Amino acid sequence: MTDAPLTSLRAALPALRLLTDPADLEHYGRDWTRRWRPAPLAIALPDSAAQVQALVRWANAEGVAIVPSGGRTGLSGGAVAAHGELVVSLERMQQVLGFDAVDRTLTVQAGIALQRVQELAREHGLQYPVDFAARGSCSIGGNIATNAGGIRVVRYGNTREWIAGLKLVTGGGELLELGRALVKNSSGYDLRHLAIASEGTLGIIVEATLRLTDPPPATNVMLLALPSFDALMQVFSAFRERLQLQAFEFFTDVALTHVLAHGAQAPFAETHPYYVVTEFASDAASEAEAMAAFEQCMASGWVSDGVISASDAQAAALWRLREGITESLARHVPYKNDVSVRISAMPAFLADTQALLAEHYPHFEVVWFGHIGDGNLHINILKPENMPQEAFVADCERVTKLLADVLQRHSGSISAEHGIGLVKKPYLGCTRSAAEIAAMRGIKAVLDPNGIMNPGKLFDPD
Ligand code: FAD
Ligand code: MLT
Ligand code: ZN
Repeated sequence: MTDAPLTSLRAALPALRLLTDPADLEHYGRDWTRRWRPAPLAIALPDSAAQVQALVRWANAEGVAIVPSGGRTGLSGGAVAAHGELVVSLERMQQVLGFDAVDRTLTVQAGIALQRVQELAREHGLQYPVDFAARGSCSIGGNIATNAGGIRVVRYGNTREWIAGLKLVTGGGELLELGRALVKNSSGYDLRHLAIASEGTLGIIVEATLRLTDPPPATNVMLLALPSFDALMQVFSAFRERLQLQAFEFFTDVALTHVLAHGAQAPFAETHPYYVVTEFASDAASEAEAMAAFEQCMASGWVSDGVISASDAQAAALWRLREGITESLARHVPYKNDVSVRISAMPAFLADTQALLAEHYPHFEVVWFGHIGDGNLHINILKPENMPQEAFVADCERVTKLLADVLQRHSGSISAEHGIGLVKKPYLGCTRSAAEIAAMRGIKAVLDPNGIMNPGKLFDPD
């Protein structure tokens, strides 16, 4: 790579902050996958939508590929720049642009962190309900670009439900204002929804107007120990029938072992094969229903132990057992599957998947957890220490092909919430028909005519 594009970029946008230090290229060129070697051209740090637009126009003229970058907490390689792309980081675009109490909306620049948005909503007596462990580092732009889910989807839905409007600088360099925060708008295609889950392949989201809602009720957190996988969906049904659940998450003893090794406190004296963390309102009626559900599950043999939080500190300690899993596994650079099926298809899918993985991964440690109340399972395969990364990934990809067949049989998705990125690109066809993928390519060709936006992510260029 010559310096010519950078000289041209500096001349075209003299006020743009650019980083080219090797440590910065390494830092901004990768996400949490840690599988690809970062090799970006440079890192651009625009501070306004106008600067982003000028950048994109320059990139079109020069034929330079762009990788939009938020907090780089992504788990699918979507923000990886390994082929001389220009990383466009929105970290200098974190302004709060407005709050409207009547519309109950908050307008922000897209580089702002999810946790800051949650805090701002609380300061206004409201709630932004998308939530997950990367809240402190991930950005609203990245959340929108992946349609992030998390631990409250069972109650509030995915990011998509909370985007009242957004501004997108398309790959062609147009600034589109999409959605306008209208509650009702039947005036043709809703292009806002194309930007959501587009993984930076159509343009750069520069602003978002987020819907806020009533604050959550005071809650209790309950941890349940389960003797078998088969009991999982029964326990979910028993609790969901009686309570409005704020969360219903699951993990195995293997996951717990890693979190405990990472400093968490053991919840029970004995170990159990499966665990559920659930959260519900702490009013007297809800507590009574929760106890009734618990007793029903104990009597049916679906639950073998349980503990309920008596303080905020205890609730946080119980949540840590679930939310700490990703971080506790990070040093193993796990191969991640993030799959979903309809909730009703979950029991049959779980049985098939368990059989498949038991047969094909006898030699690897497999960590199961996930948002079981949404039909979303995370399966993390840990690399044995002495195994080369390439051989490990090749073996996992062989099994993922088989898993993709199981998903196709159960009408599921190869990515529930992390996105396709680089990691799941070979399996897109198990979730989307050939006609759908062709339509997606057509949409990209219209919004990104020169194919400069995050090329090679989601699908390969034509
Ligand atoms: P990045 O990783 O920077 O980028 C992700 C994708 O979005 C890339 O394709 C990138 O090009 C694109 N992008 C980023 N910003 C923009 C923009 N402004 N315009 C256009 N495209 C853009 N995800 C969940 O869904 N649920 C979870 O429960 C969850 N838990 C997590 C827990 C941990 C500990 C970690 C590390 C990750 C977790 N994730 C989870 C994954 C990740 O946090 C989400 O995918 C998040 O939405 C990514 O946001 P980001 O700002 O870090 O995006
Ligand atoms: C989670 O649910 O904890 C996240 O999606 C992160 C992960 O899958 O590792
Ligand atoms: Zn998740």
